[in-house]
Amino acid sequence: MGYIERAKEKLDALRKRDDYYILAFESSCDETAVAVVRGREILANEINSQIEIHKRFGGVVPEIASRNHILAIDALVEEALTKANITLDDVDVLAVTYGAGLLGALLVGVSYAKALAYATDKPLVGINHIKGHVCANFLAHPDLKFPFLCLLASGGHTEILDVRSYADMRVLGQTADDAAGEAFDKVARVLGLPYPGGPQIEACAKGGKDCVKLPRPFKGEKTFDFSYSGIKTAVINYVHTCEQKGVLVNKQDVAASFQARATGMLVENAIKAARKLGEKTIAVAGGVGANGALRESIEKEGKKQGIRVLLPPKYLCTDNAAMIGEAAFFAIQEGLENAPLSLDADADL
Ligand code: KG4
Ligand code: ZN
Repeated sequence: MGYIERAKEKLDALRKRDDYYILAFESSCDETAVAVVRGREILANEINSQIEIHKRFGGVVPEIASRNHILAIDALVEEALTKANITLDDVDVLAVTYGAGLLGALLVGVSYAKALAYATDKPLVGINHIKGHVCANFLAHPDLKFPFLCLLASGGHTEILDVRSYADMRVLGQTADDAAGEAFDKVARVLGLPYPGGPQIEACAKGGKDCVKLPRPFKGEKTFDFSYSGIKTAVINYVHTCEQKGVLVNKQDVAASFQARATGMLVENAIKAARKLGEKTIAVAGGVGANGALRESIEKEGKKQGIRVLLPPKYLCTDNAAMIGEAAFFAIQEGLENAPLSLDADADL
């Protein structure tokens, strides 16, 4: 019996249990992350953020991200195992993000996990990063069950998902252009704020008023889709016009207006979709889910409509490996194929 057959047998044996150890890897962008998850419990969630390295370039430089993943990943495994108070021998299965993301960055995690899986003769599960974000909600809310609606807003994706099971997640609405987080990052750059823009815009908006006129994409239309490029362009034009007229740009007001419009669209569409489908639970996921204005507003609107809104803690909204481990738990439970050693990184998954 070869590695693949043994891995399949092991996964079949784990399927009905919830007390086994998953060692998970995430390296799709600028965070190297390793976690240990058991059932719905996080035993370790180690992250090495490269934000400080990429800050001076105003965004993530893919090649630099890959190199730093290589430097960080081995020590993080040691840290995660120590934190979880287990050894590599105790680990039952490995999980790794194989897409979507930066190709070179993904390759580091995928290659590392494949090599470790083969060397230790343990099964490996390949995880779609987006499904990982959705599954962060199971770690934060142990009573959560399928089905539910998910508002996913990150640096690469903005979607409303009808989550019926791990395997069956249907896209009800998505962005026609930029992702919400990407728009936060670009607007921050226009305002001269450092990377990553989301938390910077949020902090800057605190002293500002929602008084800059910005467009409302898809207003009054029967769609759950999003669009951010028009809002972003309107901000750029506003700032340039102020500069041409020699008027000082009130960054706080611009940030507050952009944040109100950007998060307003997310909240409106999520509530609209939940009402249309008669769905009573909205789970929030992705880095933009860490935004305080979004969290406050969707919770308030949910309450008005009798919809339960689930908000994972901020460290589970942004990239982490615990969510990848949890996604693997559901992939295993639903009997999805384990990853063969030919698993490859897929930037556009
Ligand atoms: O999910 P994530 O960590 O990585 C991706 O999968 O993309 O999301 C990162 C994005 C970045 O664009 C970042 O600016 C945004 O999430 N973000 C925020 C906040 N924290 C992170 N956006 C708005 N408000 C925040 N507090
Ligand atoms: Zn992410």
